[in-house]
Amino acid sequence: MAKRIGLITAGGDCPGLNAVIRAVAKPAMREGFEVVGISDGFLGLIEDHMRVLSFNDVSGILAQGGTILGSSNKANPGKFAVGVDKDGKVIMEDRREQCLQLIRREKIETLIVAGGDGSMTIASELAAAAHKAGHSLNVMGVPKTIDNDLVGTEITFGFQTAVSIATDALDRVKTTAASHHRVMVVEVMGRNAGWIALHSGVASGADVILIPEIPFDFEAISDCVRVRSRHGKRYSIVCVAEGAKPKGGQIFVSKVDPTSPDPIRLGGVGKAVADEVEKRTGIESRYVVLGHVQRGGSPVADDRVLSTLLGERAISMVLEGKRDRMAAVQHGRLTDVDINLPCGKQRTVPLDDPLVRAAKEVETHFGD
Ligand code: F6P
Repeated sequence: MAKRIGLITAGGDCPGLNAVIRAVAKPAMREGFEVVGISDGFLGLIEDHMRVLSFNDVSGILAQGGTILGSSNKANPGKFAVGVDKDGKVIMEDRREQCLQLIRREKIETLIVAGGDGSMTIASELAAAAHKAGHSLNVMGVPKTIDNDLVGTEITFGFQTAVSIATDALDRVKTTAASHHRVMVVEVMGRNAGWIALHSGVASGADVILIPEIPFDFEAISDCVRVRSRHGKRYSIVCVAEGAKPKGGQIFVSKVDPTSPDPIRLGGVGKAVADEVEKRTGIESRYVVLGHVQRGGSPVADDRVLSTLLGERAISMVLEGKRDRMAAVQHGRLTDVDINLPCGKQRTVPLDDPLVRAAKEVETHFGD
């Protein structure tokens, strides 16, 4: 029987997942492996939804958005929500042993997981549980997320597409802001990291960039808008990361999903900034929340290339006999790190990041 690899796309989806599936599966199939595609992230392991992928399944999908396997950012085998008790509290069950039984039944020796920090944690916990039970399960990670916040790699696939979408939106908002002499606030994703806001803000020449790493002051933002107005700039563009917060204040939470391993859904800071700036400056202010638009559609060329490099690295590590690694980019070079490295951590924007400095040099305000 052919050796079997399980392939999972887990957590929030992002452009480039299909390119990774292709880059893992094609070489694997050529080397005689059977590639088992697990449906809907770790939910497929819990609910026993998987199928052997054919060459045709993984061919022609390079530029396709989403994931042909499906994904889930709620299914954690260690803490799986199965219902609510009489007090309305979510009941969680540990389904790891059940997942491991399935993995053994399917004779899957290696699990390749395209995911973020949460998915890498789940994968390495599964591997640890397998080892404890005397079985061997190799786990390989491919760093995915539009947020670009994985420790151990300086870039994740999906990020460059999200930045490109946000930049395009900021460019478009600028022309209508100029026509109407308004302040336009654009809220972008990124969780607790400001990478998308920083990169798209710089790329579009936003006047103010607000990131979680630099708490902002409503009055400082308003001042910046007033100064621009005095200099004849009758519009301003603010790019705000969903995780940005006022000095001494709290993050803006739009929803709490207790069934999810990462229950907080951020949102609302864009509206708060627009309302405050309008109140303080008297200049009409509007806001746009880009939301999941940033995760949809076809990956940009750089993400197609990166996904191909990272996916191929994952399968070549399996062929080399490496264990429990995550493909990564460090100092601009493709490499790999211990899969435990990104677990439970987030890579945020350092205050001395060269792009923060360069942005300040071109008069971009950080609202502080
Ligand atoms: O991690 C990716 C991401 O898009 C974050 O930027 C965002 O905070 C979150 O996922 C949104 O999650 P959901 O798809 O559950 O709304």
